[in-house]
Amino acid sequence: MNAALPPRGAPLLRAEGIGISFGGLRALDGVGFEARAGEVLAVIGPNGAGKTTLFNIVTGLYRAGSGRILLDGANVTEAPPHHLAAAGLSRTFQNLQVFFRMTALENVMAGRHLREGSGLLADLFRLPRTRRDNEATRQAAMALLDWVGLADKAEIPAGSLPYGALKRLEIARAMATDPRVLMLDEPAAGCNPVETEEIDHLIAEVAARGVAVVLIEHDMKLVMRISRHVVVLNQGRLLAAGTPAEVRNNPAVIAAYLGTHGAAEASRGSARDNARGSARDDARGSARDDPRGDAHA
Ligand SMILES: Nc1ncnc2c1ncn2[C@@H]1O[C@H](COP(=O)(O)OP(=O)(O)OP(=O)(O)O)[C@@H](O)[C@H]1O
Ligand SMILES: [Mg+2]
Repeated sequence: MNAALPPRGAPLLRAEGIGISFGGLRALDGVGFEARAGEVLAVIGPNGAGKTTLFNIVTGLYRAGSGRILLDGANVTEAPPHHLAAAGLSRTFQNLQVFFRMTALENVMAGRHLREGSGLLADLFRLPRTRRDNEATRQAAMALLDWVGLADKAEIPAGSLPYGALKRLEIARAMATDPRVLMLDEPAAGCNPVETEEIDHLIAEVAARGVAVVLIEHDMKLVMRISRHVVVLNQGRLLAAGTPAEVRNNPAVIAAYLGTHGAAEASRGSARDNARGSARDDARGSARDDPRGDAHA
């Protein structure tokens, strides 16, 4: 992983006053957040709140109508996606973006190549440096597959892997660029409780290595368990921001997002967390796609 990560808690990615409209729809209006090294920042909010749109702006897929984005202090508001990737910003997508005909290993290597870039001419003539680079890329990709528990599936076409494995494969591929900031758009959506727990572990490990993680997630228990800060969006606006406990107890969040019943359950979950030190088992049996369903699962 990246050896040049800043100290834990250092601000790495900052979005300020982000706004965008699609036709007449104000999808985001004055939204901001700050992601710090070694911490998980969760972005939550009901369906259509603007979470994915925010990711699309920050990663350069959409051009913000207003606001600015700073990556490690540099203004990258207008930067294209490949520039941001090279600068240490990596992401996964809400819908699987796997090359199904390629093997698991090739999928991760494809991510890695983004960073290595030994050059077209060297590739064409298969110069020695390229072969060495390819071997290094292959080894690094294998290490990532091993990390996500897919080492024995390296040579299998990605299309024949089960869904939970594909979600882990995407995390491996996103990590192949040695990012300083990893943005995950619903990495556990559609996963069963065991798969969710595995992904939860991976995210915690990424953060523990000093990467700033920005996580869109509907599973409230996962959010409460692994995030340091939470940003709540509602209808394109910032509804609340703070620690998981602050957000959970925020009346606006309770009214607009969790629902009164859900907030009460979440509070009880937090009491259990404190008592046990960990509530990992609580992930079992929780629904994932409906935030309200999650909160009172
Ligand atoms: N390219 C686009 N063109 C037009 N409207 C868009 C576009 N992208 C997003 N929107 C609209 O912006 C709003 C926010 O969508 P977005 O996908 O960001 O929500 P979300 O919070 O990620 O929701 P979900 O939890 O369902 O994934 C929605 O009303 C959506 O229809
Ligand atoms: Mg989305």
